[in-house]
Amino acid sequence: MERTLVKDALNATAPMDAIFLQGWVRTRRDAKAFSFLEVNDGSSLRGIQVIADAGLPDYAHIQRAHTGASIEVRGKLVASKGQGQQWEVVAESFVVLGEADATYPLQKKGHTLEFLREIAHLRPRSNLFGAVFRVRSRLAFAIHEFFQRRNFIYVHTPIITASDCEGAGELFRVTTLDSSHPPMTEQGDVDFKKDFFGKRAYLTVSGQLEAETFACALSNVYTFGPTFRAENSNTSRHAAEFWMIEPEMAFCELEGNMALAEEFVKHLIRDAREHCTADLEFFSKFVDKELLTRLDFVLERPFQRCSYTDAIAILEQSGRKWEHPVQWGDNMQSEHERFLAEEHFKCPVTVYNYPRTLKPFYMRVNDDGKTVRAMDLLVPGIGEIIGGSQREERLEVLREAMAQHQLSEKEYWWYLDLRRYGSVPHAGFGLGFERMLMFVTGVGNIRDVIPFARTPGAAEF
Ligand code: 4AD
Ligand code: MG
Repeated sequence: MERTLVKDALNATAPMDAIFLQGWVRTRRDAKAFSFLEVNDGSSLRGIQVIADAGLPDYAHIQRAHTGASIEVRGKLVASKGQGQQWEVVAESFVVLGEADATYPLQKKGHTLEFLREIAHLRPRSNLFGAVFRVRSRLAFAIHEFFQRRNFIYVHTPIITASDCEGAGELFRVTTLDSSHPPMTEQGDVDFKKDFFGKRAYLTVSGQLEAETFACALSNVYTFGPTFRAENSNTSRHAAEFWMIEPEMAFCELEGNMALAEEFVKHLIRDAREHCTADLEFFSKFVDKELLTRLDFVLERPFQRCSYTDAIAILEQSGRKWEHPVQWGDNMQSEHERFLAEEHFKCPVTVYNYPRTLKPFYMRVNDDGKTVRAMDLLVPGIGEIIGGSQREERLEVLREAMAQHQLSEKEYWWYLDLRRYGSVPHAGFGLGFERMLMFVTGVGNIRDVIPFARTPGAAEF
C-alpha cells in the first residue's frame, strides 16, 4: 500500500478506510485503554495524532515507540473527536522500525539554538528546523521559477577558480601539494606550477566574472550555487560557505539592476507567504513576533533609493553616537546600514554610487571619477542582503582600474576580451541566500538557516 504523507493526511477532504503512514514519534501518551502518538514525517509543521487501542495485537510494539522512534502505522483516517485537529488515524497495525531510548536528545522540551547547533544531524527533526529547511527548499524552487519565467538562462559557474572576483583576499586555496614538503622554485617560493592546476587555485567567492561571459552571449543569465569566503569574522551574518544567486544582464544599467533586485526580493517574500503559510506563522509566533507585519509591509511599498553620499549625510546628521564614526569614503558598518533601513527609511533601501576606493575593480566608474555604479540593498534586521553593480564595459577604463587594483591583465585576458569584442553595458547582483532566509524566517543567526554551517573553527558533520 502506498504511503500517505502526514501533510496530505492532514489536508484530506474525506475519511480514508485504509491509510499507511511512516514517520517519527514526537510524543506518546498512554491512557488506560488507548495510546496517543503524535507522528511527524517532515512534510509539514504539524504531526498527525495516531490512536492505538490497548486491545490491538500490536499494542506491545506501541509501548516501544518512544519519542524519536521511527514507525509505520496502518489504519483508518477518521474525523477527530479531539480539539485542535480535523483528522486522526486509528491504528490497526503498527511496526517500530528503529527505537530511540531516553538518551535521544530531542525530548519534548524547549532547546536553545546553541544546543541544537551541536546536534545539527538531528535538529531537522525539530519544529523550528523542519520549518526553516522547508522554506529553504521552497525558496530555492521560487528562485529558479522567477528567472526561468523571465527567460534567464541558468549557468553553472565553476566552484574552483583562479580569480579573486571581489579582490578581498578571502580565498580558500585548493591544492594537492604536500603542505610539509611543497616543491620550491629557485627563488625559494612554493612552486605552484607543479600544483594540480599548474597555478594557484581557489574556491570561488562569486560566480560573477564567469557569469558575465555568459551574459555577453545569452543576454540574461543567473547562477545559483555555493560560494566560499575565508572571512575570519564571527558574526551572526557571515558564513565561510554560503549560497549566492547572481543574475547578470547584458544591455542593462544600474537602474534596471535595482528594479530587478526589488522585484526578486518581493517575489521570494510573496512566494513564502503563499506556499509556506504554516511555517511562517510558526516563526511569527515563536521566533519574531513582528515577522508577518514586516514582510507584508515590505511587499506593499516601493523600496527607497539613496546615493552613498546622501546616506553618509543622513548618518552624520542623525545625532547618533556611532561605535564607528563614519565620513565620506568610509565603509558603512552594520550599525549604519541597520540605522538606514530600520530607523531612517524604515524599509528596504538601495544605496548606490559608492566611492570607487571601497569597491572591486569591475564596477563602472561614474563621470565624477570618484564613485562607481555600485548598489547594496539593505533590509531591516539584517543590513546588506544584496551587493551588485553596473560593470565597467569600456576597455581602457577597466584596464586602468585593474592597474589600480594591481591585477594582472595577463591573468584576466578573457575578462578583458569581453570588452574587446562586442562590449555592452551590463549589470548584475548577488543575493546571499542565507541572508534572504534570515529575513523571511526572522531567524537571527546564519548558522540556523543552512543545514551544516561552516564558520571559523567549525566544520563538524
Ligand atoms: O556584496 P558581495 O560580496 O557581492 C559579490 O560577490 C558580487 N560579485 C555579486 C555580483 O554582483 N554578482 O556578496 C553578495 C551578497 C551579499 O550582499 C551578502 O548577502 C552575501 O552575498 N554574502 C554573504 N553571506 C553569508 N556569509 C558571507 N560571508 C557573505 N558574504 C557575502
Ligand atoms: Mg557586498
